[in-house]
Amino acid sequence: AQLSVIDGIAKEFDLTVEKLSEIIKHFCNEMDKGLEKTGMNVAMIPSFVTGVPTGKEVGTFLALDLGGTNLRVCEIAFEGEGIIKVKQHKYRVTETQKTGSARQLFDFIADCVDKFLAEFVTDYTENAKIFKMGFTFSFPVEQTAINQGNLIKWTKGFTCSDSENKDVVFMLQEALNRKGVPVVVSALVNDTVGTLLSHSYKDPNTLIGIIYGTGTNGAYYEEISKIKKLNKIPDASEKMIINVEWGAFDSEKKALPITMFDNKLDRESNNPHYQIFEKMISGMYLGEIARNILLHLVDRMLLFDGYSSKELNRNYSFETEYMSAIEADESHTLDNARKILEELLNIPSTTLTDRQIVKRVCQIVGLRAARLSSTTLAAVIIHCGMVECGVSVGIDGSLFEFYPHFSARLKTALRELFGSNVDKIEISLARDGSGVGAALAAMLAATE
Ligand code: BG6
Ligand code: GLC
Repeated sequence: AQLSVIDGIAKEFDLTVEKLSEIIKHFCNEMDKGLEKTGMNVAMIPSFVTGVPTGKEVGTFLALDLGGTNLRVCEIAFEGEGIIKVKQHKYRVTETQKTGSARQLFDFIADCVDKFLAEFVTDYTENAKIFKMGFTFSFPVEQTAINQGNLIKWTKGFTCSDSENKDVVFMLQEALNRKGVPVVVSALVNDTVGTLLSHSYKDPNTLIGIIYGTGTNGAYYEEISKIKKLNKIPDASEKMIINVEWGAFDSEKKALPITMFDNKLDRESNNPHYQIFEKMISGMYLGEIARNILLHLVDRMLLFDGYSSKELNRNYSFETEYMSAIEADESHTLDNARKILEELLNIPSTTLTDRQIVKRVCQIVGLRAARLSSTTLAAVIIHCGMVECGVSVGIDGSLFEFYPHFSARLKTALRELFGSNVDKIEISLARDGSGVGAALAAMLAATE
């Protein structure tokens, strides 16, 4: 009975190459719609970044990065010839700060910038220098200029009040001013845009920057003539970076193979019917999908002898990190899986069969996430007509960096879609690239 139920679940999570192609087609249409009009489901947001870094840029800028696992403040010195020196410090954003008022959140951020300058930047107190800062804000923002943009909607568990439809640069600048921190926010970028810029600095063949982390999204260089909704062309440039916001794809739930486990997650989330694609792929959610499956098996008396625990019953208690560790556990007795289940999640006792089932569930959810991830990446390459030419892709985020087999599974799906042309796609880790990218955007803005 166990096996047939689990095989049934695996089938629901299976993605054939035909299904992947169908999703790609649907997504390509959504991209076209987003380029035509504002307010579409896949927002296709113009970033107002038109310059491509050459690697020769020189200067020192600050960068602030909000929206991934950590808040980061960095000082970035570009020394020309592709040489970059980075000082950075990470700060933790608490659940209360994520869900309180925007003023509290931005005051906390201004505090972190102040502390960073005092601790790490030698000329902070010595002279009356004003620092220029690039702001990586990893949420959907309707940008109106390189240093201006209104928050469309919070994602990834943030729900701060009094901030949707407001200019996030203005809110940050006000908080810095309130505290008297001598910083001017001169560029606003999404993390994908930052990742793309910093990767382009190293490799001019880069077309796409991607995040597979707490959330998922991508940015790419688009021909300005194709961005029909843009009413004023900023300068004579031919290309502008578009922040796709692909996490929002398919809020109508028409194209993606959504299961009851996904629907339960969506229904109980703080943004039901939003970010449907992201909820099937990214680090914030995979553990919760797996937890929903495990509880379903417990309820059917097919796992843990029908017992659960207070911990396993708590939403989001089965972290994606646990899935990583369980998928990575190659021991015969699955000892790491046992530790997680019995010691961290307080399941009274587990058999080897239980642990094998849990590992299988993690594989099912992890495999679907990686295969689904191939669709939007492939769609952007197809949209840009670059399948045969080859492109470089810079990717950041904890899922891509740490989740076992994620990148191999992603590449297998791309090979099924593109055949040997996949060898022309160069995928590399662009760790912490978005801070460097934000500083680059601040520099490109300063030289315009
Ligand atoms: C970081 C980037 O390295 O990766 C952030 O600096 C980005 O801008 C983050 O949001 C994504 O990964 P995660 O796993 O921290 O969400
Ligand atoms: C979410 C945000 C998006 C960001 C992505 C990755 O999807 O909406 O702006 O790029 O997460 O961090």
